[in-house]
Amino acid sequence: MFLSVEDVQTGLFLTGYITDQVTTTTVYLAAKLNKPILLEGPPGSGKTELAYAVAKATNAEVERLQCFEGINEEKAIGKFDEALQRLAVELRSKSGQMDWEAVKEELHSQRFFSAGPLLRALQYKKPCVLLIDELDKVNQAFEAMLLEVLSVWQLSVPKLGVIRAETIPFVILTSNEERRIGDPLRRRSFYLRIEHPTPEREAKILQLRTPKQSPGFHRGMAGLAKALRGWSLEKPPSISEMLDLSQALETLGRDQITPEMRDILLPLLAKTEADRKKLLLRDGFASLIYDARQYSAEATNE
Ligand SMILES: Nc1ncnc2c1ncn2[C@@H]1O[C@H](COP(=O)(O)OP(=O)(O)OP(=O)(O)O)[C@@H](O)[C@H]1O
Ligand SMILES: [Mg+2]
Repeated sequence: MFLSVEDVQTGLFLTGYITDQVTTTTVYLAAKLNKPILLEGPPGSGKTELAYAVAKATNAEVERLQCFEGINEEKAIGKFDEALQRLAVELRSKSGQMDWEAVKEELHSQRFFSAGPLLRALQYKKPCVLLIDELDKVNQAFEAMLLEVLSVWQLSVPKLGVIRAETIPFVILTSNEERRIGDPLRRRSFYLRIEHPTPEREAKILQLRTPKQSPGFHRGMAGLAKALRGWSLEKPPSISEMLDLSQALETLGRDQITPEMRDILLPLLAKTEADRKKLLLRDGFASLIYDARQYSAEATNE
């Protein structure tokens, strides 16, 4: 999928995904060694986006398995299309002669199976990106089923048989850590923690998304992000929330945040009642802006 670590770096950059050397090297090695990457980190830190960026950079398709509580194998692997099977039997019986054994075999072939994302991911001729998103929502039984796919790259489906991968997909597993992912899956994966970015990297990301604003604005926003994250908020802002804030300021025609803007910006900055109260403290917001100015110097965005 990639020729070198630099190739990953450039490829991801061109899709607008700005990351560090640890991530690019891990992506390169995971692609070379056919290892899944398990990504953990705060919401909005770019876990899901990394899968889409890798796909875009390599021109690959994405198969996404969105996990949720109570997800079953049918959703992930697929199921026989019973309506189609019934129709086929009716048509055959109308046509007179029917070799029941042959029909039974045909009905249990892939032609009558409607594949889910896991099965589809194994059937591409060229590697696809298989995104198993929010894996912490599933139970242990489901996780055990995934082990078969991710270790031997095959799936056993009752009546259909064993389906082996045409090519091995590039797999990204994400988790928000609501439940601890088991050790067998961890052992088979590379583990990447995505934390909030440095002010320098955040300024670059903001620059890509709000290109009309000045470098000073992007540095200022990156400084504000760092200041807010140092405030022990219940819900510190993620990259995506800083992008929202930057776009909001652009929409309002403002190129910086001043203490008087506190009230109108609160809905974007504080996402819980406790955080709102904290930012409403007397002089709280003004001192936040002061900290942000200090931190913005760290975001030298060339
Ligand atoms: N490194 C990055 N470079 C560019 N944009 C980024 C980066 N990280 C995050 N983003 C932006 O932040 C948005 C949110 O990222 P994403 O949806 O991947 O977060 P997540 O970690 O999957 O969050 P959640 O846990 O809530 O699903 C993306 O759409 C993207 O615009
Ligand atoms: Mg996500």
